[in-house]
Amino acid sequence: METQLWHPLSRDEDLDAAPIALTLLGHALVLWRDASGQPVLMRDQCPHRGARLSLGRVRHGHIECPYHGWRFDAGGACVGIPAVPAFRPPASHSACTHPVVECHGLLWGALEPPTTEPPKLPGMPARRLVYGPFDVATSAPRVVENFLDTAHFAFVHEGWLGETGHAEVPDYTVTHTADGRPVIEDYRAWQPRATASATSGGWVRYRYEVLGPYGAVLGKQPDDGSPGDAYTLWATPLDDEHCRVWMGQYTADTTSTDTELRDFQLAIFAQDKPILESQQPRRLPVSGGEVHCAADRLSAAYRRYLQRVGVRCGIC
Ligand code: FES
Ligand SMILES: [Fe+2]
Repeated sequence: METQLWHPLSRDEDLDAAPIALTLLGHALVLWRDASGQPVLMRDQCPHRGARLSLGRVRHGHIECPYHGWRFDAGGACVGIPAVPAFRPPASHSACTHPVVECHGLLWGALEPPTTEPPKLPGMPARRLVYGPFDVATSAPRVVENFLDTAHFAFVHEGWLGETGHAEVPDYTVTHTADGRPVIEDYRAWQPRATASATSGGWVRYRYEVLGPYGAVLGKQPDDGSPGDAYTLWATPLDDEHCRVWMGQYTADTTSTDTELRDFQLAIFAQDKPILESQQPRRLPVSGGEVHCAADRLSAAYRRYLQRVGVRCGIC
């Protein structure tokens, strides 16, 4: 199932012509740009003798293998074999290509032709910052579930997103989108320092939406009428127990600098990371093996959703 999903592989702005090696669902891939600036995603294995194409270079819009210099175009066709200049390589000499597309400031790839577009976002504030990659030694679903979990705010993010005097999780209702993704329309939390520009504590209204098996969005609206923020989290499954995280921040804050906004988000994520990497097992147990409390209703709904859609990578 997940082989037909789109997964973020790079920030769009981070890819120039030079090839980037990456891993998706246990497969080694190479990402590069052709002469027209279009991203190209290929299996990172030359069809000739199996060398990594990502060790090569891009010249005249073609990727050149580092071993014998075979050249491949954006469609994967072999367009030149230096050792046999007069030979016109047939289709059997092609490199294996995969779908890739730009969306939300990221380049998304899939191992097999996807059945849908990359996830659509609800209405988001206009200013967008994209953060990543952040590699985390745990499964992608563990990271998404943590993003949906509010009961840890008072402990992991004490003084920022919560404090132990306000640890109780208020009652909330989980609903579902028409295609079965869990949503909380209205969740209220008291936060000592909800955003980069916050100077005091206050009540914040959250809206959570699972965007897909490995992604979610939350909206944050302070009660004092100050500008709201929205955040996306995407966890790309490198394999069952490792993922690469990307975050999008969408804000109406026009006064904080990009660096201030980024530093705040990175500080929050740095608080989460050691906890995430400590969780055992790394795969998310969706069919028993961990106990729940009433505050975990969204996590439980997310686990049921993963089971329903038939995800396999990163769960147990
Ligand atoms: S292994 Fe790539 S050209 Fe020979
Ligand atoms: Fe957290």
